Amino acid sequence: MILRELLEAVEVLSMGGDLNVAITGITYDSRQVQPGFLFVAVKGFKSDGHDYIQESLALGAAAVVVERREALLPGVSWAVVPDTRRALALLSARFFGNPSAGLKMIGVTGTNGKTTTTNLIASILNYAGLKVGLIGTIHNKIGDRILPVKNTTPESTDLQALLKEMAAEGVEACVMEVSSHALALHRVEGCEFDLAVFTNLSQDHLDFHRDMEEYRDVKKKLFSSLAQPGVKTQKYAVLNADDPSSVHLIEGAGGTVFTYGIKGEADVMAQDIRVTARGASFTVAGRWGRCRLDLKMTGLFNVYNALAAYTAAAALGVSAVVIKTALEAAVGVPGRFELVDAGQDFAVVVDYAHTPDGLENILKTAREINGGRLITVFGCGGDRDRTKRPQMGAIAARYSDFAVITSDNPRTEEPLAIIRDIEEGMKSGPAGAKYCVEPDRRQAIQLAIGMAGTGDVVVIAGKGHEDYQIVGSQRFPFDDRLEAAAALKKRES
Ligand SMILES: Nc1ncnc2c1ncn2[C@@H]1O[C@H](COP(=O)(O)OP(=O)(O)OP(=O)(O)O)[C@@H](O)[C@H]1O
Ligand SMILES: [Mg+2]
Repeated sequence: MILRELLEAVEVLSMGGDLNVAITGITYDSRQVQPGFLFVAVKGFKSDGHDYIQESLALGAAAVVVERREALLPGVSWAVVPDTRRALALLSARFFGNPSAGLKMIGVTGTNGKTTTTNLIASILNYAGLKVGLIGTIHNKIGDRILPVKNTTPESTDLQALLKEMAAEGVEACVMEVSSHALALHRVEGCEFDLAVFTNLSQDHLDFHRDMEEYRDVKKKLFSSLAQPGVKTQKYAVLNADDPSSVHLIEGAGGTVFTYGIKGEADVMAQDIRVTARGASFTVAGRWGRCRLDLKMTGLFNVYNALAAYTAAAALGVSAVVIKTALEAAVGVPGRFELVDAGQDFAVVVDYAHTPDGLENILKTAREINGGRLITVFGCGGDRDRTKRPQMGAIAARYSDFAVITSDNPRTEEPLAIIRDIEEGMKSGPAGAKYCVEPDRRQAIQLAIGMAGTGDVVVIAGKGHEDYQIVGSQRFPFDDRLEAAAALKKRES
């Protein structure tokens, strides 16, 4: 594609050099530059792309897009734009032929439930006979083909390249998690969504967002994007009627708005809910009729996720019969309330809960479905939102009979310093809350499983599907499910 044509996709403050140069690729990472590429200098958190222009030219970049003119070098084709992150997204969409225009694009945002809800929507659309692409935390999928991931939502260039690959392989609908980071960093600009889903908003990522209001308003961007002009005529916004943030997200939202909920009036409601160890059953009632659903996934939070998926699929025209079949067949997502069963007479649950609200939801569910003692193993991530640590400590103290505070992914932080933050919360919980500290996660899991008795439940929270532990800047193989199975085996021997 010719540089001049590409630059039509963005607001350009100034440009120069040969604008008829052919562009063979686009990247923000100078190490990925190949001859003929357009290098977009993005200011990152650790490094600034403007410092790598020389390097990108040495690797054959044909042109550069910058925010700072003074970073330019003579004899180069160039453009200055107000925001290179935003420009990267729009230039990438143009370069890859605007692939989202030809796909049914479904975006799911919210503090918790994105991975679960996207997987449910993808499964329903599969049952409806569509070829589906999935983009999210655990993996990306093109039909049945699994691709590895770096972020919950890929960087814009990688995202557009992936959407183009999906379109080329006959994918009709793409279901993707849209994190608040992605919205704040313009990663999904250049994507035209047909339908956006909101799950819930609670505290998280306050290491990245100034406060909860900014965090909420960043999520609003997904819904207001539905109001922007584009090639798609019929768009939908699907929101959780029981979450107070929905009224804010609805303001300025484009498309037809549908709500789902349990507590109050909504277009789609769940009634007569039963949550057991084997799953959750409830009656869906509302705009698309009534039917009883028997989910294999337990927990009230999964009733919300199923309602969100039901409403999204129904809005897209999928029949209630197909939705019911798909939801009832769903076995859940790896590392989300996943049972580890070695025939023991107590339950062991591995879950990804890493926020106060997420932890509260799974401990409440574990208490509800199990009559015995609740033993909780958890920690908090290092170099992340510190303010949620004491809250998670207090929640563990409130719901657990015994808690083992351990390490999650400490990253570059001192593991015991993280644990001390959590302990603050434990101490503010109910007097006499029983807990111990074991920084070694393997030991902590063995301890909890060793002390469990008949009818108890051990919840291991925070890492879910992860098969690694990040200590410092290194990744070590570590999988809570394998560790739990090994501890159960050790207990028997
Ligand atoms: N609807 C929900 N409301 C509250 N908590 C939930 C909900 N769904 C799942 N959870 C809890 O949050 C954890 C993470 O769920 P899930 O992976 O679906 O969320 P996510 O939004 O994709 O998270 P991430 O932002 O890390 O990608 C689950 O393991 C469960 O404990
Ligand atoms: Mg996720």
